[in-house]
Amino acid sequence: MTMRWLKVMLLSMTTAMAAHGLVSKSALGTMPDGTAVDLYTLKSDGIEASIMTYGARVVSIKTADRAGTMSNVVLGYSSLDAYLADKTTYFGAIVGRYGNRIALGKFSLNGHQYQVPVNNNANSLHGGTLGFDKLVWQGREITDGVEMTLVSKDGDQGYPGTLTVHVRYTVHHNALRIDYVVSTDKPTVVNLTNHSYFNLSADNKPILNEELMLPADQYTPVDAGLIPTGVLAPVEGTPFDFRKSTVIGARIHDDNEQLKIAGGYDHNWVLRGKNGEVKTAARVYDPASGRVLTVTTTEPGVQFYSGNFLDGAKFGKAQEGHVKNSGLCLETQHFPDSPNHPKFPTTELKPGETRHSTTTFTFSTQAK
Ligand code: GLA
Repeated sequence: MTMRWLKVMLLSMTTAMAAHGLVSKSALGTMPDGTAVDLYTLKSDGIEASIMTYGARVVSIKTADRAGTMSNVVLGYSSLDAYLADKTTYFGAIVGRYGNRIALGKFSLNGHQYQVPVNNNANSLHGGTLGFDKLVWQGREITDGVEMTLVSKDGDQGYPGTLTVHVRYTVHHNALRIDYVVSTDKPTVVNLTNHSYFNLSADNKPILNEELMLPADQYTPVDAGLIPTGVLAPVEGTPFDFRKSTVIGARIHDDNEQLKIAGGYDHNWVLRGKNGEVKTAARVYDPASGRVLTVTTTEPGVQFYSGNFLDGAKFGKAQEGHVKNSGLCLETQHFPDSPNHPKFPTTELKPGETRHSTTTFTFSTQAK
């Protein structure tokens, strides 16, 4: 074999290797009860993502800007203690058993009434007071990534059925993929999502100059408690129309009742295409860095939350820098309060069924 061929072979081998994720594990700290929390770092040729076992949270995602500089594009803290002190932002977490809200924390299933914790004004948010975001998951290295496992017992936070949840994070070139696999031993409701706050400028400043595209013709307007009214309203002619890429801050202060209720955007958009089939959920472009984030999902909806409740002062030092609107969430999901809206795609899960859902965050860059 000639030297030239050897070089070509070696080059293609390293490219193939880098396209796959290199996974490493380190100790991050301990919970107050002594449980160890680990950090898994997944690295491919275009992305480096760190995931911890506390809340199965995305701690950082490093991607290249237009100039090729790799920086972290998600909000988070530098210590485990800071994550433990913050009960309300859900930075990077997997939220569950029911992501987003359930009105008054009440629902019925097969004739049984259930009451889950009310932790957001009159309603239940993100699985209750001790949701999946606040539990330590079991981590296991897999090809290209990490699998996080959690068993939520029958009655956990008032929900029926022992739920077994596997969340797989994997990296492929410039993408971070999340696969959710869930099963139960009794009928229950499930709505899992990831609560990462993206800031493509990687600068902790408001994301209002970033541009957003949401391929959705309808959204679910909410009442004063951010519970869907049940109506699927057209986005046409409203500040909720992101069918063409639009600067996020362009209409956020418009005189619009829905924006006022939420203090900005904090709504569920109804995605085009079939529930269960992969479709584009969102595209974000940051003109400053050139970074582009494309989100695809099998879920029927996406909650676009413009970080309205972030408040740099709230947790003193811990939340330093995370000012209002300094990150945006694109929570792919079933619609909020679905258990109380029979016309929404169902969130019920029965024994013997396995629910599989996928969301992928792909990063690229765009020229000026
Ligand atoms: C979700 C909710 C918001 C807010 C954040 C966390 O996005 O819809 O209202 O509670 O989580 O602060």
